[in-house]
Amino acid sequence: MDQTKINSQFPILKRKVNGKRLVYLDNAATTQKPDRVIDALKVFYSRHNSNIHRGLHTLSVEASDLYEGAHDVAAEFIGAKGREEVVFTRNTTESINLVANAWGRKVLRKNDIVVISEMEHHSNIIPWMILGKSLGIRIERIPVDNYGKLDLDECYRILTKNRRRVKLLSIVHVSNVLGTVNPVKQLSEMAHDIGALFMLDAAQSAARVKINVEAMGVDFLALSSHKMYGPTGIGVLYAGRDLMEEMDPWMGGGDMVRRVTNEEFEPADLPWKFEAGTPNIADGVVYTEAIRFIQEIGLDSIAEHERQLISYAMGKLQGLGWVKIYGPQDLASRMGVISFTVDGVHPHDLSSLLDDEAVAIRAGHHCAMPLHIKLGTPATARISFAVYNTKEDIDAFVEALKNARSTFLK
Ligand code: ALA
Repeated sequence: MDQTKINSQFPILKRKVNGKRLVYLDNAATTQKPDRVIDALKVFYSRHNSNIHRGLHTLSVEASDLYEGAHDVAAEFIGAKGREEVVFTRNTTESINLVANAWGRKVLRKNDIVVISEMEHHSNIIPWMILGKSLGIRIERIPVDNYGKLDLDECYRILTKNRRRVKLLSIVHVSNVLGTVNPVKQLSEMAHDIGALFMLDAAQSAARVKINVEAMGVDFLALSSHKMYGPTGIGVLYAGRDLMEEMDPWMGGGDMVRRVTNEEFEPADLPWKFEAGTPNIADGVVYTEAIRFIQEIGLDSIAEHERQLISYAMGKLQGLGWVKIYGPQDLASRMGVISFTVDGVHPHDLSSLLDDEAVAIRAGHHCAMPLHIKLGTPATARISFAVYNTKEDIDAFVEALKNARSTFLK
């Protein structure tokens, strides 16, 4: 990886915060955007802007081709068969809600079970709680062990004990708090062995782990463009063609319909059946630039770069002697994030003090309150990485952390 060349593509890295060089370590919340993504937005609005699918004029045809083609690029990126298996949503959250509503409401019955884990983001908890209230389905949770990993024996027990009732196993790929990388293939096989479907929340993994939905045995997959160097407001829901056909539309309106009478409607072809109303055309088109950016660097190089950063940061933090790190200690089992606490200093205070030194980190429950209850702390501080981060960033962070602690404990 040519670090200088990569970093030169991110204009925001040149700005100063509080008069100092920005050290951006909040990438799990959202990544920064390279020039090619920012420029592509300008190109789209300057040259091709039009609504799609409804016009026969040149601009509408161009915008439609670009938007539809973006589905092909997204499909290829995750190993899907084609655009009919890829719905553009707003984000991971909307993708999971789409499954809950378009699949869950059709298929699930009272006392059916959706299995999640104790390390899920709220987006993979609350849609099932909402269904629980209206349909009477139950949620079971795979416990997280003392090493920050899923207890797979317990997973097997939960699935096999309820084998006729469990209809879906829905699990995060890389935890946004613990950094744990979950064993997708093993989990999907366990789900399929009892006849359940398997959904993967790839929000934190898609920019760092090669995903192949077929090889991994994934039935539904959700991800967000903005966590992978792309624009906000675009997410992907993948589902195999048969499942897509089986699901009813979730939202009705323009563009998702082939024919409507006063009595009934016939939905449009896949994937448009699930994209009611004018979609986020520009950001969908621009998302392809983010995917190409990742592909040109290569996911293997990105993962290796991150392994080095995590190893370096873990070593530095452990060396301080007053930092508690959450999640797996073995480097092979973690990616993306390092969440931690410092005795005597609230994570929010740490984050504000670090901001004074232009170091952007996140503090709070990271939309995983049940996991924090399990961890026995209301909040953690979190650093999270991207391709443009360097060891110098980590040095700057560690220095700022030491200063913050001494300021606070003075
Ligand atoms: N889910 C995002 C995070 O972990 C927002 O920060």
